[in-house]
Amino acid sequence: MSVDARTGAEVGAWAEQLEQRISRREARVGVVGLGYVGLPLAVEFAKAGFVVTGVDISEPKVAQVNAGASYVLDVPRSVLLPLVESGKLRATVDFAVLGELDTVNICVPTPLRKTKDPDMSYVDAVCRQIATYLHSGMLIILESTTYPGTTEEFVLPLLEREGLRVGQEFFLCFSPERVDPGNPHYQTGNIPKVVGGVTPACTRLGARLYGQALSRVVPVSSPRVAEMVKLLENTFRMINIGLANEMALMCDRMGIDVWEVI
Ligand SMILES: NC(=O)c1ccc[n+]([C@@H]2O[C@H](COP(=O)([O-])OP(=O)(O)OC[C@H]3O[C@@H](n4cnc5c(N)ncnc54)[C@H](O)[C@@H]3O)[C@@H](O)[C@H]2O)c1
Repeated sequence: MSVDARTGAEVGAWAEQLEQRISRREARVGVVGLGYVGLPLAVEFAKAGFVVTGVDISEPKVAQVNAGASYVLDVPRSVLLPLVESGKLRATVDFAVLGELDTVNICVPTPLRKTKDPDMSYVDAVCRQIATYLHSGMLIILESTTYPGTTEEFVLPLLEREGLRVGQEFFLCFSPERVDPGNPHYQTGNIPKVVGGVTPACTRLGARLYGQALSRVVPVSSPRVAEMVKLLENTFRMINIGLANEMALMCDRMGIDVWEVI
């Protein structure tokens, strides 16, 4: 048993075991929700050498993945097919597979409702499924875009119901997905990955997992910080787009080329 350098707390046997499995790329990796975010992530883990299982409720998507056929712009068939053929990546609609997985990244939708609140029903449904199959030594990472506080206030209570302790028997993080679909320079593999865990052991395991597959990982002190990172980025992007649009209108009225100005 070793001691966490930051908190002085004992690092449990489950954390150590999982860290070793991740470092040796023996951990059985899962991604729930194989959309624009989940499929590229599953591919990056598989490219890094992990055996990856994607779980989705959509039978057509699962069938397409298992046929090596991509429906996501940033995932070419030439990359997906060899991973499927070599047994590194497969997909299923059967949530019972969660019982065999060491890590699970949640990448399901969180669309805005009419009231502008995120619809948490997809995350809720997935967390209840995970809770059914939650076992010691499991790492759960939420990637869906959501409000600051979600991981600890919404996800954690759903998982802790089963009696396992976070930071000891199971581990929980938030990591915002920052993908910019169609961007030729920055894709899942080389966008810095921010990750914040509920405890230092959670953060370390989350960072270790991403560190095996992505080019840069930025650990932060809590899930709340990681959730706020996403809010800052989206707000920054929205203000930037609004500013550019206003500039374009003004320049148009004055007969100025906005691209020259920019
Ligand atoms: N697409 C982007 O550019 C982008 C960028 C940053 C963040 N995000 C966020 O990432 C999250 C996922 O977005 P996306 O664009 O990948 O969505 P998507 O709609 O492309 O994919 C979501 C997938 O989840 C599956 N799904 C739905 N309910 C499920 C359930 N209960 N169990 C298993 N699978 C289920 C769907 O069938 C679908 O395949 C959202 O919170 C979104 O806001 C998206």
